[in-house]
Amino acid sequence: MRILLLGSGGREHTFSWKIAQSPLLTKLFIAPGNAGTLQHGENINLQGSDFEGIRQFVKDNKVDLVLVGPEDPLVLGIHDYFLSHEDIKDIPVIGPCKQGAMLEGSKDFAKAFMKRNAIPTAAYQTFTKETIAEGFAFIDTLQAPYVLKADGLAASKGVVILNDAEETKAELHRMLIDNKFGTASNKVVIEEFLKGIELSVFVVTDGISYKILPEAKDYKRIGEGDTGPNTGGMGTVSGVPFATPDFMKKVEDRIIKPTISGLKRENIPYKGFIFIGLMNVAGNPYVIEYNVRMGDPETESVLPRLKNDFVELLQAIGTNSLKDITIEIDEQVTATVMLVSEGYPGSYQKGKVITGIDKVEGSIVFHAGTSLNAAGNTITNGGRVLAVTSYGATLQEALNRSYANIEHIHFEGKSFRKDIGQDVINFK
Ligand code: AMP
Ligand code: GLY
Repeated sequence: MRILLLGSGGREHTFSWKIAQSPLLTKLFIAPGNAGTLQHGENINLQGSDFEGIRQFVKDNKVDLVLVGPEDPLVLGIHDYFLSHEDIKDIPVIGPCKQGAMLEGSKDFAKAFMKRNAIPTAAYQTFTKETIAEGFAFIDTLQAPYVLKADGLAASKGVVILNDAEETKAELHRMLIDNKFGTASNKVVIEEFLKGIELSVFVVTDGISYKILPEAKDYKRIGEGDTGPNTGGMGTVSGVPFATPDFMKKVEDRIIKPTISGLKRENIPYKGFIFIGLMNVAGNPYVIEYNVRMGDPETESVLPRLKNDFVELLQAIGTNSLKDITIEIDEQVTATVMLVSEGYPGSYQKGKVITGIDKVEGSIVFHAGTSLNAAGNTITNGGRVLAVTSYGATLQEALNRSYANIEHIHFEGKSFRKDIGQDVINFK
C-alpha cells in the first residue's frame, strides 16, 4: 500500500512512525513533512491546499490512500475534490468531506448540530453584526466568566474568555464590527462557561460504525499551573485517571453515539477521526468542541498506546469495514512533553541547531517544528519543536522518563512545562 500523508507537525511524525511499522506499507510520502518524518518516508514539497498538485502527485506515484493530518485541507474540501474527479475518486481520503469538516470549521454549525442531536454542551446563542445589540443583552443574562467564540477557524486564537461584562461587550464589538479575526468572526457564539476538567476523546469512523481510541489530556497554556496564553499544546498524557469506565460510558452513550447517528441521519458522510474536546463537569461530560482530525500533541501520546496495525485501520475506514477491527490498547500509559522555542506562542526565532536527540534512551522523540539545514543538521523550524513521549506503568513513571531524556536535548531557547500531568495525577 502506497500512502500519502498531509501535514508537517508532531501529529504527522507520529502518524508516519506508526504507519512505517505496518507490513502492509510499501511506500510513504509526507507532504510537506519535517525532519522527523524523513526517518519513515519521503518528504514531498507540496502543501495541503494545493489540490491540483496533490491530484497530479497521487496519479504519478500510484498512491492508494491519502491521510489528512490537519483540518485546513478538510475544511477547504479536499475529500470532495477527490470524489468529484473521475481519475482519483476511488482513492480513499481519510478525513471528512467539507460538510462534516464544518463540525470544526464553524462553531455555530457544531453547536446547532449538538442541539439538534441532544448532545450535552454549554448553552449558547450566535450573533452577527446585525444582532450585536441582542448579543449585549444576552451577555447581561449570563454569569461571569463569559465565553466568546469566533465562528470560523482562527488558528486556535478564536476563543476569548473574560470576567467582566463590559469588557466582553467591547470584545464582541471587536470581533463582529472590527473583524478581529477577519471573516472567522462574522458570527460569534456566546456560551455558558463550563467549570471542570478537560478531556480529549478520539473516535474513528467509516461513517457506519465507530471505534474509540485512547483518551488524552492536553495542556494548552504556556505557563505552569495553566497560566498565560493558549498554545497549540504543551504536552499530553494518555491513560487519564478520571476517564474511568463509568465516565467513558457516559461519553459513549451521551456524546459519541448521538454524534455518529446524527451524522448519518443528517446525511453527512464522514470517514476519519472525530476529536471531541469535552469538559468533565462534576462527573458529567459536556462537549466544548469538535475537531475533525487527531489532536496535536494528543496523537503523540495516543498512537503509541494503540497496538493495532494503523494501516489496516486506515484501510478499514476506506473500505467501510471498521466494524471488523478490534481496537487493542497498551496497558501502559504515556506522557508527552513538548519542547518549544523561547517566546512561543508569541514571536520566536527559527534555525537553532538541535543536538542530543541521539542520547535519548527509553523515550520516543517526535519532531514537530524541525527541518534539516544545508549541512544536514536538525534545526528548529517552529514554535513547537519536539515532543518527547514515554511509556510507564504510571503517569508519573512515564513523565519521569520524558523529563530525564529532555535533559539530553539541547537547542538555544529550549522551553517546556515542568508540570505536565500533575493535575490529573492529583485529581480527586
Ligand atoms: P477551543 O479553541 O475551542 O479549543 O477552546 C479553547 C479553550 O477554551 C478550551 O480548551 C477550554 O479550555 C476553553 N473553553 C472553551 N469553551 C469553554 C466553555 N464553554 N467553558 C469553559 N471553558 C471553555
Ligand atoms: N491539542 C489540541 C488540538 O490539536 O487542537
